[in-house]
Amino acid sequence: MSPKIIRIGIVVFVIGAVLFVFIQFLPIGPQRTNPPVIAEPKWDSPETRALAKRACFDCHSNETVWPWYSYIAPVSWLTAYDAQMGRRAFNFSEWKPGMMSASVMEEQIRSGRMPLPQYLLMHPEARLTDAEKQKLIAGLHATLGKETPPPATAPTTSEQALVQERCSGCHGIDRVTSARKTRAEWAETVARMVSKGARLNATEQNIVIEYLSKTYGR
Ligand code: HEC
Ligand code: HEC
Repeated sequence: MSPKIIRIGIVVFVIGAVLFVFIQFLPIGPQRTNPPVIAEPKWDSPETRALAKRACFDCHSNETVWPWYSYIAPVSWLTAYDAQMGRRAFNFSEWKPGMMSASVMEEQIRSGRMPLPQYLLMHPEARLTDAEKQKLIAGLHATLGKETPPPATAPTTSEQALVQERCSGCHGIDRVTSARKTRAEWAETVARMVSKGARLNATEQNIVIEYLSKTYGR
């Protein structure tokens, strides 16, 4: 190698090292937090909870185990982000009946989308065998299937009835009624819900978007 290439190599390495140290101090991204455990589902058996703890709790509970590399940027940003987004989807430590249905969880487990594949690379212990997946899925159904979400208030308009009927199958209706969004944001959310399986044809989507941005706008 020519001395010039070596010199360039050293400069690149030093700049990289300085940047690496520098980003450790950037106060950006979600923080690593473990808020108190408020309420868990009424687990059908300790075994179901143990399987969920192994495979899901790091991102869907307030009992996240933060490994050493979760303290080092940029990995720290990714792990904290996963936990934040996972808890936002549903949180086993702040459980409310109807927060997320067992069927949607089953679908995520069966399709291999959950636990997140990139997470399994670093957490082989969270990888479930087919038999364990079956047990977890059956346990989730047994645990969440008998939950009765708080009764929805009687609908007063047909748009409201439509939203109540089509938007409460996977999560509680309070997921919808507690949100405040602009029209564009509601349009994006409704499209995402349809892609997840909400049954609304194009006309119904427009009605729902119109109603939601009028009633739950910001
Ligand atoms: C490494 C973190 C991580 C683990 C472990 C994990 N999840 Fe998730 N999960 C997420 C994130 C992040 C989201 C939000 C994805 C989004 O908003 O699109 C999510 C969303 C979900 C959703 C909502 C569906 C959707 O399309 O967004 C379900 C259901 C779910 N997870 C089930 C599970 C189950 C069951 C387990 C355990 C078997 C599990 N997850 C383990 C990170 C994780
Ligand atoms: C097939 C299942 C399913 C149906 C039906 C469904 N959702 Fe969802 N919804 C989800 C899942 C899974 C999440 C969590 C992951 C996410 O946010 O993408 C979610 C999250 C949400 C959220 C919180 C996240 C955000 O973007 O603010 C809102 C609001 C929401 N849904 C509104 C609706 C509305 C409105 C409808 C009816 C048009 C609906 N949902 C129907 C599966 C569904």
